Amino acid sequence: MGKIVLAAKTTHVPTMVMSELDGPLKGKRQSAIDGHKKIGEMAREAGADTFVVLDTHWLVNASYHINANHKFSGMFTSHEFPQFIKDLPYSYEGNAALGDLIAKTARDMDVYTLSHQVDSLDLEYGTLVPMRYMNADAGLKVVSVAAMCTVHSLDASRRLGEAIRKGIEASDSNVALIASGSLSHQIWPNDIYAENNGTFTISSKFNEVVDRRVLEMWQEGDIELFLEMLPDYAKYCDGEGDMHDTIMLFGALGWDKYKGKGHVITDYFPSSGTGQTNVVFDLPD
Ligand SMILES: [Fe+2]
Repeated sequence: MGKIVLAAKTTHVPTMVMSELDGPLKGKRQSAIDGHKKIGEMAREAGADTFVVLDTHWLVNASYHINANHKFSGMFTSHEFPQFIKDLPYSYEGNAALGDLIAKTARDMDVYTLSHQVDSLDLEYGTLVPMRYMNADAGLKVVSVAAMCTVHSLDASRRLGEAIRKGIEASDSNVALIASGSLSHQIWPNDIYAENNGTFTISSKFNEVVDRRVLEMWQEGDIELFLEMLPDYAKYCDGEGDMHDTIMLFGALGWDKYKGKGHVITDYFPSSGTGQTNVVFDLPD
């Protein structure tokens, strides 16, 4: 019987990749990179064989979707930021059986979900950036779940999270579950980005205050209240992908029955107007 052996909410900002390169951003995102590496180490220590990544950059319309290819390899250039992430090589083994089982479990729970093995269905950078650092040796398999859900209710995404956990438990896989998305996500408008030193600042102090309060709530285990405010948080603080990744994550952890706490791995940092962090969550008993 499989299980979730690690659960985390993580950043994936493109400046992490640029932080590796010579130039003005060299080293500027090292704490975020180190946080990802730490989470990768924790996943291995916990016995994970697969990363399941809830990817807020994979936009889907009808249905929920899982990229359960047998393998992923290629050279990635972001359509959103081709100047930031380009020619990024990647190669990972997939876990098709797990992706298929999660989708079947979800459909059995009346959450219409499709799992795909299509060679030309590639990964988005919400998956590729975390995998670059958490799975640098490509030793763990990868499954990607679409989490920019345009026409999906929050309740359905909660139930998909529950199905993800049940599917994992019906499999023989030990999974590190990664909700790949920011906290608040109001990117600086293009025409005032530079004058606000946009790469390193938050676009809304209101968003920062709420983000920091959310981090306190997670660390204090005040999850029930957080879940009550989550729809408004996603709405008023421009949650990335409407925070469907976060909803799926807490759905997998047990939603309002979850009694664990979050542990900050990378301190809160602003990036291009948005609020970012890396947080690992206690697992349910
Ligand atoms: Fe993003």
